[in-house]
Amino acid sequence: MDTPSQNDRAAWLRGRIAKCAHLPGRLDRPLRVVLLGAPGVGKGTQAALLSQRYGACHLSTGDLLREAKTLSSREQTLATSSALNFMQHGALVPDTIIWQLVRERSGCFQCPGGFILDGFPRTLAQAGALQHLMEVEGLHLDAVINFELPASEIVARLSGRRTCANCKAVFHITSQPPQFADTCDHCGGVLYHREDDRAEAITVRLQAYERSTAPLIDYYRAKGLLNSVPATGEPEQVCLRTMAALEERRGDRTTEAHNDDTSVAEP
Ligand code: AP5
Repeated sequence: MDTPSQNDRAAWLRGRIAKCAHLPGRLDRPLRVVLLGAPGVGKGTQAALLSQRYGACHLSTGDLLREAKTLSSREQTLATSSALNFMQHGALVPDTIIWQLVRERSGCFQCPGGFILDGFPRTLAQAGALQHLMEVEGLHLDAVINFELPASEIVARLSGRRTCANCKAVFHITSQPPQFADTCDHCGGVLYHREDDRAEAITVRLQAYERSTAPLIDYYRAKGLLNSVPATGEPEQVCLRTMAALEERRGDRTTEAHNDDTSVAEP
């Protein structure tokens, strides 16, 4: 993987009291996109690659919650400590808590480089709340990318994942190993095995995905925003497929011609 975007996402990860380092300049056409897909399909990996290509900020609710975990008990709010308990077991965090955390960070939706939402929305209620927020902010989504991968590959990706405790970069023990064991290539931080990547928690997460998040595919298809992208192959190949889908859709928007659901073929 390339080096992560220079934006440290401070305002998203630590809330509005924090200021982002290296904010991107205002772009003519900032990218505003939602990434959907089962746990472990590669949303975070693709968000990091797309962020480098387009300058859009990677807004991950999972990273936000994991950052809250590093706060002392005095710094944690009731909402974050309750959320961490749900997360540890692989269950979805209640909509009210997630919405409170996202709403507190609504300034990030106006990021001059645009944004890549990863892990939000995850329920129909969250999708409705996002739509309302976008209307209030005077923004609209370019697309919703739905990554598709067979279940057997998903489990293999999750069980071998290692995550940097500092910059949150993602590795895999066989498909994307770090140069030095347990050490982040980008910042030298310690790599760890997420506790929700244990077998029991993976089962709970996949069930929660099927029950609560998969219905968003039809929801966004009906809005004419959905693009399905196969998540098989190297991360770079998946990224190129995603960019092709995005460029086609953004071109379509310019000419005001919309497709309902564009599936991208393997290159
Ligand atoms: P979150 O962090 O969002 O987890 P997730 O959706 O389960 O997604 P993952 O981070 O597990 O996987 P990913 O798709 O990003 O894959 P990655 O790129 O890392 O959420 C965690 C928890 O927080 C939830 O379970 C819930 O409790 C809570 N939560 C968060 N948001 C919430 C919300 N909105 N509402 C309620 N609760 C919420 O890749 C996985 C592995 O595969 C890595 O090792 C990577 O190196 C490897 N890999 C990636 N791409 C490839 C490739 N092309 N080839 C080979 N290996 C690859």
